Amino acid sequence: MRTTVGIIGGGPAGLLLARLLHRTGIDCVVLESRTRGYVEQRQRAGMLEQGTVDALRECGAADRLEAEGLVHNGIELRFGRERHRIDFPVLTGGRTVTIYAQTEIVKDLVELQLADGPPLLFEAEVLAVENAAEEPGGGAPLVRFVHDGREQTLTCDYVVGCDGFHGIARDAFPAAVSRTYEHEYPYSWLGILADVAPSCEELIYARGPGGFALHSMRSTSVSRLYLQVPNGTDADDWPDERIWDELDARFAIDGDWRLERGPITSKSVTGMRSYVHEPMRHGRLFLAGDAAHIVPPTGAKGLNLAVSDVRVLARAFAELHRSGSTQLLDSYSELCLERVWQATRFSNDMTRMLHAQPDGDAFEDRLQLARLRRIAASRPAAAELAANYTGLPLAATV
Ligand code: FAD
Ligand code: DHB
Repeated sequence: MRTTVGIIGGGPAGLLLARLLHRTGIDCVVLESRTRGYVEQRQRAGMLEQGTVDALRECGAADRLEAEGLVHNGIELRFGRERHRIDFPVLTGGRTVTIYAQTEIVKDLVELQLADGPPLLFEAEVLAVENAAEEPGGGAPLVRFVHDGREQTLTCDYVVGCDGFHGIARDAFPAAVSRTYEHEYPYSWLGILADVAPSCEELIYARGPGGFALHSMRSTSVSRLYLQVPNGTDADDWPDERIWDELDARFAIDGDWRLERGPITSKSVTGMRSYVHEPMRHGRLFLAGDAAHIVPPTGAKGLNLAVSDVRVLARAFAELHRSGSTQLLDSYSELCLERVWQATRFSNDMTRMLHAQPDGDAFEDRLQLARLRRIAASRPAAAELAANYTGLPLAATV
């Protein structure tokens, strides 16, 4: 098989890149190791920045999002048994965010892709990428993968690793070129889906007794909630009643508010990590999304970063296709990393401000409260949070 852009991974980054390339007449092939059912059911993100919605609209994948997505004008911070609203349009000059599940984005993109191409192969596990790190003029990049029970090859002009944090594309960077920056946080999230109408109209980020809790949603009848738990937690040790009791305690305020309970349909534990691989390009090999960087989920930046990477990359390939210029491709890594580090900083700040210290460090505890109080009391401090949460702009070139 031969193509212009070989895309490894059919998560949001790989699928959206394929659609954006298809629109500009650039051919590509997407290789995804899992089944269609698996990628469409994997519970993850839910909060979309405006730029993410715009990118999906640009490639004709926003019909259902526009009909079913929930536009939110703010979030609530809860601490010290009080609630504080952060009003996005007021603080940012009109910006909002949209709640629409990653599972639904993936379903919408897969459906379009299977309807009018380019090729998307499920159960196609990539084993290795060869020659991709060579400079243009060297041998053509080659992707080795297993599909239909036999090993096959895909020859490409360029390879894009959209294969998530546990993918293999990063391994094709020469060790002398790769620099990695990493931090593991001393807590995890237990995430649940429940068949109950959300108990709030906007997301609640709570720093309660015992730690962090987040109330999000998937629709007007499905709630998505998260609880800070110790690393190594087994979801089976959390029966439903224990989860609801703990959520009740962490969201408690002085005043009238009630957390509605309902049947829990899914439970899973996620670790929290910051990770950045630099550079995001070497020769003909590019990384996009979680393959290049991971942020802890507090602040909801992961999917949004993946989308902004592939937007930049699609425009760079379009420029090459149109004019033969590699100028945008050459600046891809630098441009994306600027935004990646800003999101890494913001996600780290949000995480540290809202999670209880497992070692019970009283000094850190007081600093957290001081940070939260500052945001509640100061318009510029709240505006800074709102600007980051709703998404910092890409540089002027794209
Ligand atoms: P992935 O979604 O990981 O996709 C990579 C794909 O590559 C997978 O389908 C995988 O099967 C495939 N693959 C891997 N190896 C191979 C191989 N060798 N061959 C072929 N295919 C391969 N982000 C937000 O922006 N907002 C949120 O609200 C938010 N909430 C989150 C909540 C939780 C609990 C978690 C865990 C994450 C959350 N995120 C959020 C992060 C977001 O889900 C990820 O950043 C996003 O999935 C990244 O997309 P991706 O396409 O880069 O990678
Ligand atoms: C969701 C996840 C997040 O990490 C976040 O900060 C907001 C919302 C969600 O899954 O809905």
